Amino acid sequence: MKLNTNYSNVSDSYLFSTIAKKVAAYQAANPGKKVLRLGIGDVTLPLAPAVISAMHAAVDEMASAATFRGYGPEQGYGFLKDAIAAYYLERGVKLDSEEIFISDGAKSDLGNILDIFSQDNTVLIPDPVYPVYVDTNVMAGRKIVYMNATAENGFLPMPDYSVDADIIYLCSPNNPTGAAYTVAQLEEWVKYALEKDAVILYDAAYECFIEGNSAARSIYLVKGAEKCAIEFCSFSKMAGFTGTRCGWTVVPAQLVSGGLSAHKMWLRRQTTKFNGVPYIVQRGAAAVFTPEGRAQTAENLNYYKQNAKIIAEGLKQLGITFFGGESSPYIWMQCPHGMTSWQFFDYLLENAQVVGTPGAGFGVNGEGFFRLTAFGSRQTTQEAVERIKALLGK
Ligand code: MLT
Repeated sequence: MKLNTNYSNVSDSYLFSTIAKKVAAYQAANPGKKVLRLGIGDVTLPLAPAVISAMHAAVDEMASAATFRGYGPEQGYGFLKDAIAAYYLERGVKLDSEEIFISDGAKSDLGNILDIFSQDNTVLIPDPVYPVYVDTNVMAGRKIVYMNATAENGFLPMPDYSVDADIIYLCSPNNPTGAAYTVAQLEEWVKYALEKDAVILYDAAYECFIEGNSAARSIYLVKGAEKCAIEFCSFSKMAGFTGTRCGWTVVPAQLVSGGLSAHKMWLRRQTTKFNGVPYIVQRGAAAVFTPEGRAQTAENLNYYKQNAKIIAEGLKQLGITFFGGESSPYIWMQCPHGMTSWQFFDYLLENAQVVGTPGAGFGVNGEGFFRLTAFGSRQTTQEAVERIKALLGK
């Protein structure tokens, strides 16, 4: 047998696994010290009561032969797809439920979708960005071209027609910088993609953090996107499903290239390789869209938004430059005293026992930056900010 040698081109360990290992080693060596984690963007509030009761009811259904469910539709149950389609419609985006595929989260599908694309596509990826886009394409041996996301362009790179790309990744609101594209900016991207016969893989996992219409909450708000974009979204951050696992992917019926339908191929791929998200979990996800579910999840999102404000306020008091934190649960701060991002990671862990994510883990342009998440508990957030202030305010 021959192993996939492309794996020798990815780092030994995934960014967040590396951080978890480092923190575990520090904790083992310093058992008496209380470490505060603002690293991986993992939620801390429990699932909303409406979600829990829907899941309990679904468990009860599984206990009776009359309501028991075995294999479900690989692409998700109609009740959840319809609820998601209605969620889009509220924002003026009309989707057919059949264009929505229920997944076990955006991360899985962002990797899996590559199955339907040829290996010789050139991939355009912003730098810095969520490391999954780069790693999955390196594993597949695709050529990657990077576009710079810097403070100068507001961390929102725009199309460069001198660059030819086939697969374009956009993440908005962005992980890690928090920058979010407007509809007008996405119009430029759709125009570029249509002209280049490229596809946009649009990661909208953080759309729920956008206030009002300050930024685009879906790429399908742009006319023509249904011909060139696949959108990924998730209940993880929206409703605290990081451990429960549920998300969705929109593959429009009109997305065709070379006479092939991406929609049909994705359906074929999913029915072959995936057996769907558990019924109980899908019932919980559907409850997010009920009036009670809406109100309860909005309350949780507000809690995290308030955490972001607390972090932002602390950094302001220290005079540290930062971005994000408004349409996003991430604060993207400049490392103090000219430290590299991993130096600052160690400095903060050793001296304040606070964990963040080094910007370099998101790409070359992330060097010199550091990401803090607003997903901690209120107490952890406040204490971490106090510790950072005590350390850096000296
Ligand atoms: C992050 O911290 O970047 C995210 O939690 C990772 C993810 O959503 O997979």
